[in-house]
Amino acid sequence: STQLLQTTILNEQFLNIDYSKYTSSVAAIHQHLENTKDELTGWLNAPLEDNHELIHSILSVANEIKDNADVLVVIGVGGSYLGAKAIQDALTPYFGVHPNGIEVVYVGQNMSGAYIHHLLKSLEEKEFYINVISKSGSTMEPALAFRVFRQYLEDRYGEDSPQRIIVTTDPEKGILKEIADFHGYRQFEIPCTIGGRYSVLTAVGLLPIAVAGVDIIQILAGAKHAAILLKDGNIEHNEAYRYAVSRYELFLQGYKIELLASFEPSLANFHDWWKQLFGESEGKDKKGLFPATVNFSTDLHAIGQFIQDGNPILFETLLHFHNIKDDYIVPFNERDEDNLNYLSNRSFNNINATSKQGTAIAHAEGGVPVIQLELERLDAYHLGYLIYFFMKACAISAYLLDVNPFDQPGVEAYKNKMLELLKQNEN
Ligand code: PA5
Repeated sequence: STQLLQTTILNEQFLNIDYSKYTSSVAAIHQHLENTKDELTGWLNAPLEDNHELIHSILSVANEIKDNADVLVVIGVGGSYLGAKAIQDALTPYFGVHPNGIEVVYVGQNMSGAYIHHLLKSLEEKEFYINVISKSGSTMEPALAFRVFRQYLEDRYGEDSPQRIIVTTDPEKGILKEIADFHGYRQFEIPCTIGGRYSVLTAVGLLPIAVAGVDIIQILAGAKHAAILLKDGNIEHNEAYRYAVSRYELFLQGYKIELLASFEPSLANFHDWWKQLFGESEGKDKKGLFPATVNFSTDLHAIGQFIQDGNPILFETLLHFHNIKDDYIVPFNERDEDNLNYLSNRSFNNINATSKQGTAIAHAEGGVPVIQLELERLDAYHLGYLIYFFMKACAISAYLLDVNPFDQPGVEAYKNKMLELLKQNEN
């Protein structure tokens, strides 16, 4: 298999990163990850396993939904929705729906009453299905949304409603599992060995994106390519490990914020998926890089000043796809009143790529460390590859910091306080 992703550090000499000093520690961490049985590492080899049956049932449910609904309402939060939304936005049109899919909308990722109200209103004239996704089955945001949308669906479809509710949850336990068993809702499982933020390549991500029209077979093939290639414990050959060590070294040098940047706005939600993956995996025991994200060129007009010239606390990880499927050519204009004819006949994607090049050089020259991650094209195969690449790099990154990549004890604090307050104010 060939590498689909190139990692380059633009100002490596000045940063002086000596990868060879990590050879043995990375090999040891690699072995630990490969051998550990009692942690949430099911995602590691999942792309290498036979998944024909799962793909078949996801595709058949997805086809049924596409045939019988205008909209799929996905209910989930955190790892139970970010990955699907990320892939959907990256691979479906900016406006309207994909020719092979239907509209897929998300709820239960916030507690805005206005959001719920507006979404319910928008469903009035439409046929819909629900896919509720929650591993624990009891997270407040999706649980409340499920209460509302299930009730609405039952009012609309009466005795046909169980057919229109698909539950993705733990195969053994949880209140959502009990509800699904009791009412006979169809279920997909989130394997016990896969935690929320590592679950996008399971039914959690695959069912919603299949309904949105994304080719899930290509996503999984790209992930498999990465799983084979990145199984090498040698940092010299493993781009994910090289990226993990680069960011760790930068962290040690005092750069405390990693800014993920790209020049394609459809990747904004992919950034959010990445932010959760790294933020929840690394940010504990008072350690970790703060994961931040920007969309260029938009944010060059907002936060570009800070990146170039401000407090030198951040480094930039520039994600770049060389080929974006659709494009537009700048037209020639007889009058040239705007003096832009020097750009006529150039494509927007070409101008955008040049702006990326200029930005990377300017930031690097301004003293901002720039890691470039480059892939050939923005398609399902490369995105599947990139997702696995980041999950692998993230696990290694957390182990480099000596923290557990698979837990999130800090998330409980706000939940406990919120519950305490809600119970105090019970009406
Ligand atoms: O990464 C994680 O584990 C979390 O972000 C969860 O995905 C999120 O809290 C949702 O949990 P659940 O799927 O149990 O509703």
